[in-house]
Amino acid sequence: MTNRMWGGRFAETPSEIMQEVNSSIDFDKRLFAQDIAGSKAHCQMLAATGIISPGDAAEIMRGLDQVQSEIESGTFTFSRSLEDIHMNVEARLAEIIGPAAGRLHTARSRNDQVATDLRLYVRDIIDHLDVQLAALQKALAAKAKAYAEAIMPGFTHLQTAQPVTFGHHCLAYVEMFGRDRERFVDARKRVNQNPLGAAALAGTSFPIDREMTSRMLGFEGPMHNSLDAVSARDFVIETLSAASIAAMHLSRLAEELVLWTSAQFRFVSLSDRFTTGSSIMPQKRNPDAAELVRGKAGRVIGALVSLLVMMKGLPLAYGKDMQEDKEPLFDALDTLSLSIAAMTGMIDDLEPNLPELRAAADSGFSTATDLADWLVRVLGLPFRQAHHVTGGLVAKAEGRGVDLADLSLAEMQEVEPRMTEDVFSVLTVEASVRSRKSLGGTAPENVLAEAERWLAKLG
Ligand code: ARG
Repeated sequence: MTNRMWGGRFAETPSEIMQEVNSSIDFDKRLFAQDIAGSKAHCQMLAATGIISPGDAAEIMRGLDQVQSEIESGTFTFSRSLEDIHMNVEARLAEIIGPAAGRLHTARSRNDQVATDLRLYVRDIIDHLDVQLAALQKALAAKAKAYAEAIMPGFTHLQTAQPVTFGHHCLAYVEMFGRDRERFVDARKRVNQNPLGAAALAGTSFPIDREMTSRMLGFEGPMHNSLDAVSARDFVIETLSAASIAAMHLSRLAEELVLWTSAQFRFVSLSDRFTTGSSIMPQKRNPDAAELVRGKAGRVIGALVSLLVMMKGLPLAYGKDMQEDKEPLFDALDTLSLSIAAMTGMIDDLEPNLPELRAAADSGFSTATDLADWLVRVLGLPFRQAHHVTGGLVAKAEGRGVDLADLSLAEMQEVEPRMTEDVFSVLTVEASVRSRKSLGGTAPENVLAEAERWLAKLG
């Protein structure tokens, strides 16, 4: 049998390989709900504008409901020879209601149909990701509140830099995931535009009402250029770009968990629920979930690159290349969603190892900047000179194998004669974090207030 959708002009059936390369039903069937919603809106609009009769519209609506329930209940048979979700639905509709089904495709093409479906799908996923990211932020903000005062080393270059609090570290990620959410919300505005009615590429001669379908499908409004409407995939790329950035943030946090759970750091422990043992080394607890979150970021970023490359050479308007948008998009969004869920679980269960964090903060001369600041504040040295004097004191302590606070006043005075006892008050890590009250700083009172602000905001 030649294809029943365009068989009029074809004498031969497609080769098997053609079917394999051409068919998208295996992956685009997940758009069935959006496809049917789009068809229903289109059908109602066709009836309201008098393009099809109320009787045919009622039949089409009834048939589409049945198709939907067949797919939902798993009794629907998807066929590869029908290529994609659009033709699978329409062919079944024809079996159910007969020739009236053929009127649904008036003033429409699969080109505007697939763009509509995909926009509706991405919009839903963005809303879901927003809820998930908010839950992750909440888990992190709760840890920040509980450990607003827990001192740990802060790093630059992964070298001990200055003491911070564990809560402060958690809140850094709350900020990142907050911006990720904003990026998705912003992308959503450009996703939520209606391409339906652009038809194949040029619009239609039928008196359609695109405002009506926009309203019915919850789109902000109709897209204004039919060529653009059917061939734009920047909404996919923009969503994948936001997804890639979020995946990158998750990967950084995952990397920290991998480092922090190692025997060399021992900063935190992860729960049994999110780790595995080794079949040969009984002592091991492996942070597999964190490693996988880190690894999966590559897939999400890869999807973004695939889409950019797939689109960059396409002339207007629709090209079948665009069918290749779906697998990377679906995979990336599934992957991101799973990664957020895994990270949220890990954070919920995570226990910081407070003595270990505190001891690590004490080593590595983490209060050297506090000492330099003291020289500026109390002795009136210019900061650059204070930096130099402090360097001399660090070298002395390092030579003796002790911490800055363990040098005697006399030893300090060999480097800078005006040193006084008062300097010892700034050399503890507690004093260091307490002093960093500047906006956005790590002082425990700041961290607590920020954690509470976030928790109130996240509800
Ligand atoms: N399955 C196609 C896709 O995903 C739908 C649009 C096909 N349009 C066409 N004229 N062949 O892009």
